[in-house]
Amino acid sequence: MRLILVGPPGAGKGTQAAGLVDRYGITHLSTGDMLRAAVKEGTELGKQADEFMKKGHLVPDEVVIGMVLERIQKDDCAKGFLLDGFPRTRPQAEALDVALADAGADLDAVVLIEVADELIEERITGRRSDPDTGEIYHISFNPPPADVADRVVQRKDDTAEACRARLDKYHSETAPIVPFYEAKGILKRVDGVGSPSEVGERIATVLA
Ligand code: AP5
Repeated sequence: MRLILVGPPGAGKGTQAAGLVDRYGITHLSTGDMLRAAVKEGTELGKQADEFMKKGHLVPDEVVIGMVLERIQKDDCAKGFLLDGFPRTRPQAEALDVALADAGADLDAVVLIEVADELIEERITGRRSDPDTGEIYHISFNPPPADVADRVVQRKDDTAEACRARLDKYHSETAPIVPFYEAKGILKRVDGVGSPSEVGERIATVLA
């Protein structure tokens, strides 16, 4: 199974990815997580990416495309993968298309999680994550348990200002990939408003 999760920042891509990779036994590839790991490790790629990410801007295509195309060739992607946060621009979608066609591999579905802009800022600014397990929480919607609450962290780009920049980039750069996949007949739209389990059930239904 080869899947893509698309949606605005805070739509619930990371939250839903966890259940999907368990269900299908596939590898979760989050470009946001890969880039944050590179920033933490202080690699050359991480240094380049950090300046863009802090401001809520997209990391340049030439950096991200090479990183992803190399990663999907690894053995753990042979059974399939879930791309979360990639592609995010039309050139990224086209580059992925060419690479998969060269490998004789098809995408099974692109799931678009739809959430209105008005709901995004609260989701983003209230997000916290557990640095030990990677578990995602929200201070109101899904508070961390008492034994985890002391160690949760907030992402550098989860400020209201960076959130607005990320939403702008989503509409100008990422939304144009929706018609690209719609034309291929593999786009599945899912309402992202409701509890995470309700959204998960909707995703399971469109993928059945
Ligand atoms: P990335 O890490 O991909 O961030 P994003 O797309 O902005 O998405 P988020 O991780 O913020 O949100 P999400 O949809 O995963 O939501 P989550 O499940 O956490 O990218 C970060 C940056 O890296 C980019 O800005 C860019 O700079 C760079 N980058 C990454 N990929 C790139 C690429 N391909 N090209 C160029 N640059 C790239 O949920 C959010 C919150 O809401 C949580 O607190 C959660 O608990 C809560 N929540 C989830 N579901 C629900 C629900 N149903 N109801 C209520 N609350 C919910």
